[in-house]
Amino acid sequence: MTSLVTTIEEMNQISRQCAEDKKRIGFVPTMGALHEGHLKMMKQSVGENDVTVISVFVNPLQFGPNEDLAAYPRDIQTDMAKAETVGVDYIFYPSEQEMYPQWPTIEIKAGRLASVLEGEQRPGHFDGVVTVVNKLFNIVKPQQAYFGKKDAQQLAIVEQLVEDFNHPIKIVGIDTVRESDGLAKSSRNVYLSEAERIEAPHLYQSLKLAQRLYNQGERNSATLIAEAQNYIEQHTSGVVETVAVYSYPELVEQSKISGSIFISLAVKFSQARLIDNIIIES
Ligand code: PAF
Repeated sequence: MTSLVTTIEEMNQISRQCAEDKKRIGFVPTMGALHEGHLKMMKQSVGENDVTVISVFVNPLQFGPNEDLAAYPRDIQTDMAKAETVGVDYIFYPSEQEMYPQWPTIEIKAGRLASVLEGEQRPGHFDGVVTVVNKLFNIVKPQQAYFGKKDAQQLAIVEQLVEDFNHPIKIVGIDTVRESDGLAKSSRNVYLSEAERIEAPHLYQSLKLAQRLYNQGERNSATLIAEAQNYIEQHTSGVVETVAVYSYPELVEQSKISGSIFISLAVKFSQARLIDNIIIES
């Protein structure tokens, strides 16, 4: 049975009890609106740990002034029912007041890794992410924490956070879950119009096109970027914000590709900004 925990004090007690009982905690931080991608992380955590905790908290610190904080989908009853089906033990569901009782709060700066891609497009976003993730790690005290590879930059930054702040936590990256037509599962897909939803799978097709060119020996980033961007522009009505090739997990822009990379894109539709990527291991 999945229990709802709304206070930090109660969550701390549960973590202490787990430590006393030598039970390993697996943790999946989320902002709710749970979909298959979240459920995959939860299932893996349930399989690998004695106790699985997820958090559902729409973190205001990681939203810019013109972003969708107010409109972000919130439905804790549905989230609870979904978490229950995969065997989650606890949902940590704090209020904003519980997480940030004083204002202004001290924020961690995500630094160089946040100066590119999503971080460049969304100033302050990753500072908000690392601040809340750092707090959540201190509150939940997991041994393992699960993050989706769909947000590959976030995953790289959280790995750096764990190293820099000496959290004794193993970060596990989970492959992107896709709809049958290839569209990456995301809580923001609900904002797509019917016509945009039909076009949106082409984002993944553009990444696959770039990957095919890479597999055929192309190592010039500009060529991969131009081909992918061209494909998106021809097949969707979305506005391409970014198509880029970066080393992974160092996040350094690559003109000539060597080593592991990720090809990342961000496309703006009328009400939804979608991101996707593929990581290509060297
Ligand atoms: O990926 C998310 O849903 C959020 O950025 C996270 C990690 C839960 C922090 O608010």
